[in-house]
Amino acid sequence: MHKLINGIKRTIDAQIQQIPQPVFGIVTDYDPSRHMIRAMVMPSNVQTGWLAVGTAMVGPEWGLVAPPAAGQQVVLTPTDGAGDNYVVSAMCYSTQNTPPQPGGNQVVPGEIAIVSKTGTFLHLRTNGDLLVSTTGNLTATVAGNTAITTTGNTAISTTGTTNVTSTGNLTVDSSGNIVVSATGTTTISGSSINLDSTTVIGGNGTSQQLATRNFVYNIFANHTHPGVQTGGGSTGIPTQQPDATSTTSNFQAS
Ligand SMILES: [Fe+2]
Repeated sequence: MHKLINGIKRTIDAQIQQIPQPVFGIVTDYDPSRHMIRAMVMPSNVQTGWLAVGTAMVGPEWGLVAPPAAGQQVVLTPTDGAGDNYVVSAMCYSTQNTPPQPGGNQVVPGEIAIVSKTGTFLHLRTNGDLLVSTTGNLTATVAGNTAITTTGNTAISTTGTTNVTSTGNLTVDSSGNIVVSATGTTTISGSSINLDSTTVIGGNGTSQQLATRNFVYNIFANHTHPGVQTGGGSTGIPTQQPDATSTTSNFQAS
């Protein structure tokens, strides 16, 4: 009886041994047009043909694409009974290919990180932060509208030149103060410039008012003096003095 049972066991074991099992492979080539690789099967060092690389999401001209590199370790799962055709079912970090630490931070459970070979990364952290860092340019092209809303502070800092360009209107609206300062020249140009304020503050920090065009013209063309004297004497100041209608806080260049 035991002989019979042992014989059955040996037969079953032999059959199980015939079933191809997943193996590790080392990537040797990648074809970007087909998202396929060739690999060296470990430990037999047998070169495979071109193998499909499984990924998390695939669609026509869309999906998640993260090609494995030559030298990278992958898991090859047999796709037929003969065991000579595989699909790349997983990629594994190893002592040669250790996990990245974007920005010097380990990626811990609960986090998601995408890191390129150059070090550009996207890191969703457990503290709620989203870290985006590029080693090259950052380009965002938006066919629709862009809206950025924050309840905290916003800081944009660059050591280069900053340009804000619009073919439409550009509005800067603040319920607080607006400060524009430059260590160089500040230039404001436009087909017309309107200053609309109840108070214009001069360079000495005191309130100033702007003379109207008519008042300035009248001073030059029509003013008269009291106390006119001959020779080198001095006259009094012009008879026409600015009144409430001579100055304005609304200034329009012309
Ligand atoms: Fe005069």
